[in-house]
Amino acid sequence: MSNTLRLGIAGLGTVGSEVARLIQVEAPLHEKRSGKKLVVTAVSARDKNKKRDNGLSSLPWADNPSELAARSDVDAVVELMGGAEGAAKQLAEATLKAGKPLITANKALLAHHGLALSELARKQSAPLYFEAAVAGGIPIIKTLREALAGGQVDEIFGILNGTCNFILTTMRDTGRSFGDVLKEAQSLGYAEADPAFDIDGKDAAHKLSILSALGFGAPLEPEKLIAEGVRGITSQDILFADELGYRIKLLGVARQEKDGLFQRVSPYMVSTSSTLAHVNGAMNAIMIRGPVIGPLVLMGHGAGAGPTASAVLSDIIDCASGRQADGFASVMNPKATPLSAEKSKSAFYLRMMVQDQPGVLADITAIMRDAKISIQSVIQHGRSEAGPVPIVFITHDTSEKAFSEAFAAVKKLSSVLEPPCVIRILP
Ligand code: NAP
Ligand code: HSE
Repeated sequence: MSNTLRLGIAGLGTVGSEVARLIQVEAPLHEKRSGKKLVVTAVSARDKNKKRDNGLSSLPWADNPSELAARSDVDAVVELMGGAEGAAKQLAEATLKAGKPLITANKALLAHHGLALSELARKQSAPLYFEAAVAGGIPIIKTLREALAGGQVDEIFGILNGTCNFILTTMRDTGRSFGDVLKEAQSLGYAEADPAFDIDGKDAAHKLSILSALGFGAPLEPEKLIAEGVRGITSQDILFADELGYRIKLLGVARQEKDGLFQRVSPYMVSTSSTLAHVNGAMNAIMIRGPVIGPLVLMGHGAGAGPTASAVLSDIIDCASGRQADGFASVMNPKATPLSAEKSKSAFYLRMMVQDQPGVLADITAIMRDAKISIQSVIQHGRSEAGPVPIVFITHDTSEKAFSEAFAAVKKLSSVLEPPCVIRILP
């Protein structure tokens, strides 16, 4: 048995370069903890000529990342390129087919192909590790798969995207624009290569799919999961949230209900009395509830080079130590039925920009009355005969179906001048 684990790393960007750096600077610690020396023996990325630190430029290079799987000097492959298809999927399949361990931080790949990859991993007796795929430095995968293996969970919810949390909290704290703060999130290494995945809620949907599969055995079907992002949220909504005693957070929510599993990624109004409301910047927080464990909260850096590389290293050390990980194959539950969105209920914040003229409020409340939606409060500040004014409705709990019908009717009113903003209120 060799005392060295030889690694091939594909992807030398924010996460990959930090993993390579940590392998060098923490070598004695890693060897002590895993019983093996960790050595990077080959690398791959898109651009061979890019200048790279930490000796990465001088390592043996694979033009095609999949070549790493076949190399005789690579015992395990670390995939840190990203993307559900293409090079990442090919490398993942080639690695497992070669019977070698695969370590990946790629939530898009796992959300779309996690089950097939797990089955391949099991067939080939090749472990599949992915601690870094959800919530950066928070050890949520091992928590669900190992620490909570003894009991059911009823609910998993929280802040799963660091970029969106950074945008929402920085906009609130500084008054800066959405676009400006997004650029900063990109420069800090938080955002996906295509930041639309972050701000449209797709990245959080990938992560929620993975957590729902581990926690509830739900099928990995991110395309079926309702995911809304944060593009429609303005600084006006952030101010209204403050006034109403809330913070706006993009949340992923999975909850076992009587008729099925509720799953949704959406912006939510979170009461300032909740811990989640005070999780700021690129921090993530995940709350788990179960009949045996009760409530559990995990909080930490959800994005960025260091925390994510730390999670990748934990997998590499598991791999070097011979601790097995079989992906999703053992957790799937064929009886886990997704709940139809129409069956769920929520209270809603609805902000409209309206013409300030007699009858507008009456038209909107008539639509609410006809949809049997009960209003908890209405806010209108100021008066402007020339331009639009914001008007905010907070509803009591109502069905998604009733609300979406009322919303469609409100949008059609000629006095409603811009697309309204809808935010669910976290109970
Ligand atoms: P990144 O900074 O954009 O780096 C991507 C790396 O992959 C680059 O080295 C790039 O090559 C290489 N690459 C991309 N496409 C490739 C292809 N088709 N063939 C060969 N190489 C390719 O991305 P990152 O932020 O490190 O993220 C890497 C993975 O970790 C993604 O799956 C991401 O979702 C996940 N993740 C990231 C974070 C985070 O905070 N950044 C947190 C958790 C998980 P070049 O260097 O030549 O351009
Ligand atoms: N883009 C992701 C985020 C990286 O902002 O949360 C961590 O998965």
